[in-house]
Amino acid sequence: MTDPILKRVAVRKYTKEQVAKEDVDKLIAAFQAAPCGMHQTDVMQMTAVEDSDLLVKIEKATSNACYGAPLLFVINVKKNNQFGLRDASVAAENLMVEATELNLGSVYLMAAASNLNSAKDLQKELGIDSDYETAVIVAVGHAAETPEEDRSNRYKVVRK
Ligand SMILES: Cc1cc2nc3c(=O)[nH]c(=O)nc-3n(C[C@H](O)[C@H](O)[C@H](O)COP(=O)(O)O)c2cc1C
Repeated sequence: MTDPILKRVAVRKYTKEQVAKEDVDKLIAAFQAAPCGMHQTDVMQMTAVEDSDLLVKIEKATSNACYGAPLLFVINVKKNNQFGLRDASVAAENLMVEATELNLGSVYLMAAASNLNSAKDLQKELGIDSDYETAVIVAVGHAAETPEEDRSNRYKVVRK
């Protein structure tokens, strides 16, 4: 299977290997290419975290809900905005599909995002503006597991 959309799978075990700088650049480009409601590009921001001290702080604040991944994309949206959460989800998918294309593992993290919203000082340290909240964290790294599941018929689809 070569199509990264079909190949993408939630990965929750990572090696300690860093993600190459050029791959981080490509992932950020994939984030920048995401659609947004009404072309309101100012309601979503992202902090890409590779710094080991900050990664430890995030794991602590989220009770290790980021699975020790060496790269975290913290996607933040303007509070009380009708598009923010939707924008963040499509941007997260862009990141995960691009990660798959780069032979990296990834996972969408909602629980960790909620936990981070209770850690205001850490959010400030991450450069998150006070009128924004974390909607999703996308963990990325070299996969240390290869989850497999038949994904061809998971959801009800009606064709008429
Ligand atoms: C809205 C949403 C929230 C999620 N939150 C978490 C989470 O907090 N922790 C986690 O490990 N995975 C989380 N996931 C990943 C899902 O568990 C995973 O996508 C699902 O089990 C389907 O598996 P797949 O990604 O391999 O297709 C989340 C996914 C979505 C779309």
